[in-house]
Amino acid sequence: MTTAVLGLQWGDEGKGKVVDLLGKDADFAVRFHGGNNAGHTVVIKDKKFFFHLIPSGVFNKKTIGVIGNGVIIDLEVLLDEINTLKSEEISLKNKLFISPRCHLILPYHKALDEAYEKMRGKEALGTTGRGIGPCFADKVSYNGIRIYELIHFDLFEEKFGFQAEIKNKILKSLDLKLINIKQELTKYKKIKDKIEPYVVDTYALLYDAHRQNKNILFEGAHGTMLDIDWSPYPYSTGSNTVTGAINTGSGLPIKSIDRIVGIVKAYTSRVGGGPLPTEIEGGLAKKIREKGHEYGTTTGRPRRVGWLDLAALKFSCQINNVTDIVLTKLDVLSGVPSVKICVGYKLGGKKIDYSACGYRELAILTPIYKTFDGWSEDITNIRNVNNLPKNCQKYIKFIESQLQVPISIVSVSPERSANIFL
Ligand code: GDP
Ligand code: IMO
Ligand code: MG
Repeated sequence: MTTAVLGLQWGDEGKGKVVDLLGKDADFAVRFHGGNNAGHTVVIKDKKFFFHLIPSGVFNKKTIGVIGNGVIIDLEVLLDEINTLKSEEISLKNKLFISPRCHLILPYHKALDEAYEKMRGKEALGTTGRGIGPCFADKVSYNGIRIYELIHFDLFEEKFGFQAEIKNKILKSLDLKLINIKQELTKYKKIKDKIEPYVVDTYALLYDAHRQNKNILFEGAHGTMLDIDWSPYPYSTGSNTVTGAINTGSGLPIKSIDRIVGIVKAYTSRVGGGPLPTEIEGGLAKKIREKGHEYGTTTGRPRRVGWLDLAALKFSCQINNVTDIVLTKLDVLSGVPSVKICVGYKLGGKKIDYSACGYRELAILTPIYKTFDGWSEDITNIRNVNNLPKNCQKYIKFIESQLQVPISIVSVSPERSANIFL
């Protein structure tokens, strides 16, 4: 069985929790795109773990983590994660494999990310500052440096020196701190020795695993509304976040994916700039943010919140060919007196689809809402759908009927066991 877990909104839907949950039966958990701009949380009893690069499935005994070729890697962040897991007595020896084709996020990418944001001033996009855009830009302009070069260190020295010199010219013109090439090369030589044992041809590994009918779980990052092509660009992240990225970012054909699980938060959140059509302001937004702990896992920034947006979600289900949905954080809506769901968009008196909108349209359109009576009960300990408050059941049924995709699991707290299976 090959399963994909994808965020269908603006990220932070609860993918980490779901990957940990579905990972129980997985032989492999695979990241295939993005970088350490992702922040995925796994809560086991009262302990919280944050993953930026290592697949969230590795807590499961038999699950092997794979970082596929589509992922861009900040090696210092990766080593930190490896060490955190070591301190939890999880050794990643023969339990983590990294593709040599992964591009590296290097210090000048982070410097440039920050510089671009600073120069945008009021128009800043609100990136995570992790060097994502500049690293992907180098990849497609043939200026990237990969794990492959790191392993063949003479190539790394040559390419890093050349690239850092070019980037230093830009940084100098902006009066920014320059990259100390010699110092960085000494640092990366040490990093190379630590990373090398994890590097294998992950394509062959996954191809063989699939032929042997192993369970493979793909862990999507970010969300469809941040996809480089399908978001309101440039309010995007640097990678494709849709199902198609599994093929390019791991090598497995799309046809080999049996189940595509879309993760949907019961409301909407977004961290960073850009349009959010159903955004809630004021006291209610604050209440939802605090109750849902809506603060960035990577940057700690407060997340903006909004009502559930079915206009955007219909598009996400279609483009990803979603087979079933995991609805998360429904518990956060307990106590909200009336709950709204956006069922469509209107612009200039006419209906408009998500796919027809750019960032201008998304910023000015009017969402069409259906309002539901809320529920006040705490639902975190409920494990049977029939025991949920009636208004809460109506909310779930309405989402399912509108999206025409079955909801398979409802998550009612961060803890890995707090789920209602439908
Ligand atoms: P990801 O990026 O999609 O993995 O999501 P994040 O980990 O960035 O953010 C989701 C947050 O919600 C984390 O703090 C999770 O522990 C938490 N979470 C996940 N599922 C639930 C749920 O059903 N209820 C509540 N209250 N919190 C949840
Ligand atoms: P997970 O996997 C939420 C957002 C950033 C910013 C935009 C561009 O945890 O759901 P970038 O650093 O990627 O160039 O920033 O994308 N963003 C995310 N928002 N969750 C994420 O990942 C995100 N990854 C990127 O906040 O608006
Ligand atoms: Mg996150």
